[in-house]
Amino acid sequence: MEKKNRILIVDDNDSIRQLLQAMLEKLGYETETASDGFEALSKLVFDIDLILLDILMPGMDGLEVVHAIRKQEDYKDIPIIMVTGLSSREDRIRAVEVGANDFISKPIDMTEIKVRTSSLLKMKKAQDDLKRHRKELETIVQRRTLALRASMRDVVKAQRQLQDAHMETIHRLVVAAEFKDTGTASHIKRMSLFSAMLATLMNLSSGEVDMILHASPLHDIGKIGTPEEILLKPGRLNQLEWNLIQQHPVMGSQILINSNSILLQTGEIIAITHHEKWDGTGYPFGLKEKEIPLSGRICAIADVFDALTSVRPYKRAYSNAKSLEIMEKGAGTHFDPQLFALFTDNMKEVENIQKQYITAA
Ligand SMILES: [Fe+2]
Ligand SMILES: [Fe+2]
Repeated sequence: MEKKNRILIVDDNDSIRQLLQAMLEKLGYETETASDGFEALSKLVFDIDLILLDILMPGMDGLEVVHAIRKQEDYKDIPIIMVTGLSSREDRIRAVEVGANDFISKPIDMTEIKVRTSSLLKMKKAQDDLKRHRKELETIVQRRTLALRASMRDVVKAQRQLQDAHMETIHRLVVAAEFKDTGTASHIKRMSLFSAMLATLMNLSSGEVDMILHASPLHDIGKIGTPEEILLKPGRLNQLEWNLIQQHPVMGSQILINSNSILLQTGEIIAITHHEKWDGTGYPFGLKEKEIPLSGRICAIADVFDALTSVRPYKRAYSNAKSLEIMEKGAGTHFDPQLFALFTDNMKEVENIQKQYITAA
């Protein structure tokens, strides 16, 4: 059964209150009554659907009551019919200005009250339905937004795990190759940080710097295919051994080629070009100057500097100064002269990287 509408009757005159109450109950409404403005305000909480409000009352008059009701967010849409003996135009205009919806003149006529109340209650019901509908929609949107956010978080988490796994696999592959060669993973740590430093100094974007940082450790991955007795041989290499060592850029490229991963593509470029020389006397292709990709030229400097400053089976570790002195002779022949100058100008940062990853790591 549909809930009855509840109407609040506000009038200081007892007999008018009772008359209105009788009429409204006859029309099928529930009623509440108040004999002044303050009582009226206190009864709004009783789920009132419409208010019949006398204008002339002692204390707070009807217009002040309307004003006080409209100030409250919960009741600002509740229909209010002013019951008035006054019918001057000014009074009506003032009442509308403060927020009354309609008027009934005294003496009160049953038909008039029926028509006015029912049309305003219909309007109120339509408004309430609209509000409820909007609230329901808001709730649905909110719930779906939360669900969407949660699934986005899951997707990002899964992507991050996948990326981490990808990086970890590459890293382990690199470590495997490096252990075979130098017996330590700290060489690739340092040379990749030197490479990233040079990439930054060349004003590459942070994405490109990151790519060089993570791809440069792959430069010697081809040494997986080089016999250990050659890699670890303490003395000079004969021509045959030297030829075998020189295969490692091509072998590295063969390991990494045709990958969909941009990281492995960059790694492949670095692997195949890190032994090219500025004057075209390097291997495997004999590329010259800027024919050599920037990443290859960067890694050449980072790799040689770290090899010179580290212990290798065939040599002791040279000081930074001695290593730079040796490399200086290759600026413009072995190394890109601009990159080499950038490297020597930033020895403070190079030393910081060396302190962070000492050879014994
Ligand atoms: Fe190499
Ligand atoms: Fe290396």
